[in-house]
Amino acid sequence: MFRLPSFVAIVAFASSTVFAQAPVYGQCGGQNWQGATTCVAGSVCTYSNAYYSQCLPGTASSSTATTASSTISSSSSGTTSSPASSQTAAAGNPYTGYSIFLSPFYAAEVATAAAAISDSTLAAKAASVAKIPTFTWFDQVAKVPTLGTYLANASALGKSTGTKQLVQIVVYDLPDRDCAALASNGEFTIADGGEAKYYDYIDQLVTQIKAYPDVRVVAVIEPDSLANLVTNLNVTKCANAQTTYLACVNYAIEQLSTVGVYQYLDAGHAGWLGWSANLGPAAQLFGQVYKNAGSSSFVRGLATNVANYNALVASSPDPITSGDSNYDEQLYITNLSPQLISQGFNAQFIVDQGRSGVQNIRNAWGDWCNVKGAGFGTRPTLTTGSSLIDAIVWVKPGGECDGTSNTSSPRYDSHCGLSDATPNAPEAGTWFQAYFETLVSAANPSL
Ligand code: BGC
Repeated sequence: MFRLPSFVAIVAFASSTVFAQAPVYGQCGGQNWQGATTCVAGSVCTYSNAYYSQCLPGTASSSTATTASSTISSSSSGTTSSPASSQTAAAGNPYTGYSIFLSPFYAAEVATAAAAISDSTLAAKAASVAKIPTFTWFDQVAKVPTLGTYLANASALGKSTGTKQLVQIVVYDLPDRDCAALASNGEFTIADGGEAKYYDYIDQLVTQIKAYPDVRVVAVIEPDSLANLVTNLNVTKCANAQTTYLACVNYAIEQLSTVGVYQYLDAGHAGWLGWSANLGPAAQLFGQVYKNAGSSSFVRGLATNVANYNALVASSPDPITSGDSNYDEQLYITNLSPQLISQGFNAQFIVDQGRSGVQNIRNAWGDWCNVKGAGFGTRPTLTTGSSLIDAIVWVKPGGECDGTSNTSSPRYDSHCGLSDATPNAPEAGTWFQAYFETLVSAANPSL
């Protein structure tokens, strides 16, 4: 009898370490992962990236993650082919006259998430998010083939309805990506030939886009990359990446221009490049990048506040913005614009408001990771209140995580462990159900 409790304990221990299954939305694989690799019934272990596989609702014949693969064509070098743009961009706002094609990828994420919510009122609000246009991020080369499917579907919809379709994408796969943080470190490194792999990634995007000339593509180019070159060259990884980032961004612009992609280069946000000391250096860099790419008419301008939380127009300055007279995105844009013009870059803007519905929620302006209390914001619209701003958009797909709070992950960034960051967060880019639900319930305007 005395031995029974310890026997039970051993069995319980063994079953929790060897046979335990990960919960829905839990981690089930990835680099250094030592936990469960199978999922509870009703969910499937789904490969997300080298760092992370996640149990997503659904069923499949196998519940263990399979590894996605990517092929790098040997001919890609980026230096051998650089056709000049043979097209000229149409004048004016590239969104005008087009209907934004809904990201099927995000719609599927949202439908799955809504189905997992038991409160029927909240579930209905959650489901409605699938109809709000967001950008689709191409954060891994393995995802590029899906672009062809989206474009084919957009093309078919355009033909059947007579309404021209526009697909919104984010180009996001630089080698040594996210050089001043850890959460979104990417699949390519400079040390491992990442520059050539990046050129191949761009070439693959270009091939897909070229096949559907009737679909207009708008792209945000490489969030955070050029902003890091403005303010973070004191970070060794950024300093070492500077030349490569510039070469890669230049290649992306030139190649995407050949197939008529309307581009907005990511320009951080008011709390980053909006400080008066940063405006001039930022304008200089963006102007230089624009000119180096032959002043392509397809570079329409800059994207701001991507994946951030700032208001377009704040009713009053959030106390965390103290010291920066450009305390919201409109002020930042209004004051950056003339400096860009003096660098020869007459830029227009798009502004992400996807998660900006609730203000004054951060402890510090530099906090960016799954900030608690955030709500979905102003819906995408061409009614922006500023002639400099082409569109209010949703670039960050709300519900996709900013970064893991798991301190033992190789991509753990301390911002994701701050007291204003939501705990129990999975890896960047994977689905964060609890966070999505708060974005829905705190949405402003409400859903
Ligand atoms: C992640 C990407 C993801 C993107 C959009 C980034 O923070 O690193 O993997 O695609 O957010 O959710």
